[in-house]
Amino acid sequence: MLIEIKELRKSYALGNSEIAVIHGINLAIEKNEYVAIMGPSGSGKSTLMNILGCLDTATSGNYFLNGTDVSTLDDDALSVMRNREIGFIFQNFNLLPRLDAIQNVELPLIYAGTPAQERREMAWLALEKVGLTDRIHHKPNELSGGQRQRVAIARALVTRPGILLADEPTGALDSKTGVEIMRLFDELHREGNTIILITHEQEIADYANRNIYLKDGLIHSDRVNGEKKNPTPLIQSNR
Ligand SMILES: Nc1ncnc2c1ncn2[C@@H]1O[C@H](COP(=O)(O)OP(=O)(O)O)[C@@H](O)[C@H]1O
Ligand SMILES: [Mg+2]
Repeated sequence: MLIEIKELRKSYALGNSEIAVIHGINLAIEKNEYVAIMGPSGSGKSTLMNILGCLDTATSGNYFLNGTDVSTLDDDALSVMRNREIGFIFQNFNLLPRLDAIQNVELPLIYAGTPAQERREMAWLALEKVGLTDRIHHKPNELSGGQRQRVAIARALVTRPGILLADEPTGALDSKTGVEIMRLFDELHREGNTIILITHEQEIADYANRNIYLKDGLIHSDRVNGEKKNPTPLIQSNR
């Protein structure tokens, strides 16, 4: 199992009190799943994503990522895990404005200590994967929204992470460009990537095979290709 979450809880300190946001979630995700996490504003999507992405830790419960209990790691070990296992894609791309496309894509490899020559080659291949080799020396402000998101996806892919985590990846794009980005995710999924995306739009969630719906910090429903996961067994007839 790639991801296993057990009785996960998260609260935030608020002055002298604590506010509970995730109330005990159990969740398992296998390699090569394509999962959309949905739910209304304030339901805990970003909180859960931050924990899944090793940006934050739970208040209690366990999070096993590739067999490692991430909930027990200190900040340094957590950031090593994050750099190795997670590729992030954000709504607003989060590219560095002074760096051109290929330099942005190289960044995670700099943190990983990859030698310069190899770094360049890997970044170029990642940009090829997203169809942007003709734009490698463009700065973010010289690229369209869709192209910026492609650079961000190349940056997420370049370390070959176990999981691609995308928070509202089409939220800042017009619908036609959004569809192009979702087609790219489809392709990445077919190639064996595990994708977890957060969205409040059913149209976007429909691209994923599995839809998990959060409500008030709990999993309200969990469906694979429209079928309930772990359905209640049908009552057997006595005959
Ligand atoms: N750093 C924080 N400190 C205090 N409360 C927070 C913090 N982050 C989120 N919250 C609260 O946790 C709840 C869930 O937030 P969030 O995970 O951002 O939900 P969503 O992404 O589904 O909109 C909200 O009520 C929000 O106000
Ligand atoms: Mg959010």
